[in-house]
Amino acid sequence: KHCFTKSEDGYLYCEGLKVQDIVDTVEKRPFYLYSKPQITRNFESYREALEGLTSIIGYAVKANNNLKILEHLRKLGCGAVLVSGNELKLALSAGFDPTRCIFNGNGKLLEDLVLAAQTGVFVNVDSEFDLDNIVAAARIAGKIVKVLLRINPDVDPQVHPYVATGNKNSKFGIRNEKLQWFLDAVKAHPNELKLVGAHCHLGSTITKVDIFRDAAVLMVNYIDQIRDQGFEIDYLNIGGGLGIDYYHSGAILPTPRDLIDTVRKLVLSRDLNLIIEPGRSLIANTCCLLNRVTGVKTNGTKNFIVIDGSMAELIRPSLYGAYQHIEMVSPAPADAEILTFDVVGPVCESADFLGKDRELPTPERGAGLVVHDAGAYCMSMASTYNLKMRPPEYWIEEDGVVAKIRHGETFEDHMRYFTGL
Ligand code: LLP
Repeated sequence: KHCFTKSEDGYLYCEGLKVQDIVDTVEKRPFYLYSKPQITRNFESYREALEGLTSIIGYAVKANNNLKILEHLRKLGCGAVLVSGNELKLALSAGFDPTRCIFNGNGKLLEDLVLAAQTGVFVNVDSEFDLDNIVAAARIAGKIVKVLLRINPDVDPQVHPYVATGNKNSKFGIRNEKLQWFLDAVKAHPNELKLVGAHCHLGSTITKVDIFRDAAVLMVNYIDQIRDQGFEIDYLNIGGGLGIDYYHSGAILPTPRDLIDTVRKLVLSRDLNLIIEPGRSLIANTCCLLNRVTGVKTNGTKNFIVIDGSMAELIRPSLYGAYQHIEMVSPAPADAEILTFDVVGPVCESADFLGKDRELPTPERGAGLVVHDAGAYCMSMASTYNLKMRPPEYWIEEDGVVAKIRHGETFEDHMRYFTGL
């Protein structure tokens, strides 16, 4: 069951509410609309898939850092995956249990590692200098840090190069030929480091689960080697990366259960605790960006729908050439001509598009237009370019109440950066 559906009368609904009614009542600017029940359903599909395994679902906070969403996921039983000191502070504010949190990254700062050491989250070791910093942070905090080695498995995830992370030439993780150096370094620091597991993350938008199995086979071999040297390690972290159906094509894509089932036997064979780090597959399909049509124009051979949303609110199409499905919120008048449009924003550059070559009925000014699957890496990557302030966020609750879960940024917020200078 998915939260956003188009009914036969041509209206878009979310959790039984007509989206047009919401567009008519909330503020006149682009906004994000989430389904809270869909977040719960997505989490439950992971939880059910993991039955019979000891596991941590570490939600990748970078995908969407709305505090209300984090609190909801935490209450459902989620852990958190963090990539900066601020994400760590946010996760603590949202009440996450530090023993279910993982601090990741190829350039973690000493001050952030000190906070990580104080709070007792797991920390991934990414490089020689990173290990030095973790040791230093452990000494400053007076704590032993539980670490996982982030191994670069050199598996091709078959995705856009910007979101591939586990191949040989990527900036993340350690190469297998250096593994011994790291094991020796951990052995040399018994008062600072406790090795508890191994981690890998292959990339994002992965739509073939075989790729996860290939990586898990390699990782379990590394774990065998590490255990052979006397380390008692219990955790295999296979990262995040499961893709979703951005095209709304009806294609059957792997589910969380398919993902977990491809690694289940391996994990059980070595008596490991499994950590997974989903971001997109937990949150992307729970949300649309709601825009209004400013006008329609034609230049050369191109037709354009100009909307109030833009690359500032949602940069994935501009940055990765990503496809996100676009629909009108309400049916067009019967005589509206169906044309091929580029859907563009008001930002002053040609990279500013939300969709290219989309067949849509010529909309009237003010008509509502949604960009689907906007829950992951959209609001969290929004900017204030052209001083388009970051949009507000709303969600529909279980009882059908539409509640604001984040204020929209204002011009006054911007001016505050200059007070007293
Ligand atoms: N774990 C690690 C170490 C990661 O680097 C990432 C994402 C995740 C987990 C979560 O991956 P997910 O399940 O969300 O695929 N901005 C890009 C995506 C960048 C992903 C970065 N790493 C986009 O909009 O497609």
